[in-house]
Amino acid sequence: MATEKMQKRPHAIMISLHYQGHITPFVNLALKLGSKGLSVTFVHNEFVHHKLSQSHKINEFNLFPEACESGLDIRYTTISDGFPVEFDRFRHEEEYMESVLRDFPARVDEFVGKMIESNPSLATFLVADTLYSWPATIAKKYNLVNVSFWTQPALVFSLNYHFELLRENGHFPCKDNMEEEINYIPGIESINTRDLMPYLKEAEMATVSPKIVINSFEGVKKADFILHNTIYELEPATLSALNKNQSNYAIGPISFSQNLGKTNPIKCLNLWSDSDCTQWLDSKPPGSVLYISFGSLVEVSKLVIQEIAHGILLSEVNFIWIVRGGMTDALPNGFEDKMKDKGLIVPWCNQMEVLSNPCIGGFLTHCGWNSIQESIWCRVPMICYPLSYDQPTNRRLVVDVWKIGIDLSDGVPINREGIAENIRKLMSASTSEGLRTEARKMRDILWNAIENGGSSDINFDQFIKDLKAKLHAMD
Ligand code: UDX
Repeated sequence: MATEKMQKRPHAIMISLHYQGHITPFVNLALKLGSKGLSVTFVHNEFVHHKLSQSHKINEFNLFPEACESGLDIRYTTISDGFPVEFDRFRHEEEYMESVLRDFPARVDEFVGKMIESNPSLATFLVADTLYSWPATIAKKYNLVNVSFWTQPALVFSLNYHFELLRENGHFPCKDNMEEEINYIPGIESINTRDLMPYLKEAEMATVSPKIVINSFEGVKKADFILHNTIYELEPATLSALNKNQSNYAIGPISFSQNLGKTNPIKCLNLWSDSDCTQWLDSKPPGSVLYISFGSLVEVSKLVIQEIAHGILLSEVNFIWIVRGGMTDALPNGFEDKMKDKGLIVPWCNQMEVLSNPCIGGFLTHCGWNSIQESIWCRVPMICYPLSYDQPTNRRLVVDVWKIGIDLSDGVPINREGIAENIRKLMSASTSEGLRTEARKMRDILWNAIENGGSSDINFDQFIKDLKAKLHAMD
């Protein structure tokens, strides 16, 4: 009887995209589902598993050892994308993502088929990244409840969701230099075309990104439930409007969600190993250090790196800069000698540990959604230099809507004097008091949302209730 009950426990098959910015919320969602008594099979791409094993120097790598020890039923397995593990997917992004669109669905189909066959009595549901094209087809074929997980702001989701409406109004593909207000999307009062995601613009029409978005957002309209890693209070109108079409639940920020406790496998979550910066950070006065990072994915041009490097030196602030892989070659000659003890350059750090150090006074960020949430969580105001994907749209939220950040280059071409001036503005207590006050308020909003009885907490429980009802109805 006990076994039978265990088998009837709702069981998630979770498949994340291979980017760090997607993996982190997915892993935390798996823990959250596990902590609610659901079973999870978490599926990592084989090359992600390989990279994690290498970075953390663990032979029999398991993402969830602590969770399993503490009694959660979270199983961990892998799926191949058909490429050798050594293939550099980030350097060959276009070729790789074309294949993810074209060939990966058949692999997922086979994987899910085998899983169902080996245990047909599982009450299974699928939790896949919204940006995948295949969930609706696979869920239909295997009669699974289809849960789509969106890891970015609801604003970005809604713009993608309404791509046909954008098209009808001549804003998709959008002319690259067009500056027009869009005020016809339900739940979005107004957004200027310059703040749209670059993959909706003409310059990127020949790349794989718009294809991915069109495919996945046609598919998401068939999802049973959509989870958003955002907070209702931050995007109420957008989320309420989306709810008129489908069941959307704002459950963020999932990475700080309650009940994760000791089960958080934060040490082995990242694809790269951390450099320990604690000693250096602890030697600096409170609020005196600017943290600089452009996330895990986007390439920053040599010109930009050089201007930022000169700008920081001119600003005379302390800084810690994450310069990934080969990008150190782009720094100006003699930069590390000139920065002396004012600066620290490392290839990867534990970002949450750095941001929560009292010496951090500001974050120069590319506006990845995880970085924004982490910065808010640590009450650190931002200076924004968005580069790609959702980042320009996220910037709008940070600078124009929530007023917890400023722009690095104020719409003019990036130059060292302007950078230095803006960095000084962000780091000086007198000119950034307003930003800091707003950042503290935002942190309270996030905190309250995930507390017992907060909006994200309530939404998560409602999702579980609705999911169980749906699974029961399909039984
Ligand atoms: C990608 C997209 O680029 C981003 O726009 C989207 O919102 C999410 O997917 P990424 O560029 O990596 O993500 O940015 P971000 O969302 O900020 O995620 C980066 C993660 O890596 C953060 O959780 C951050 O804490 C972590 N990180 C980054 C580290 O732990 N150490 C580092 O040195 C740098």
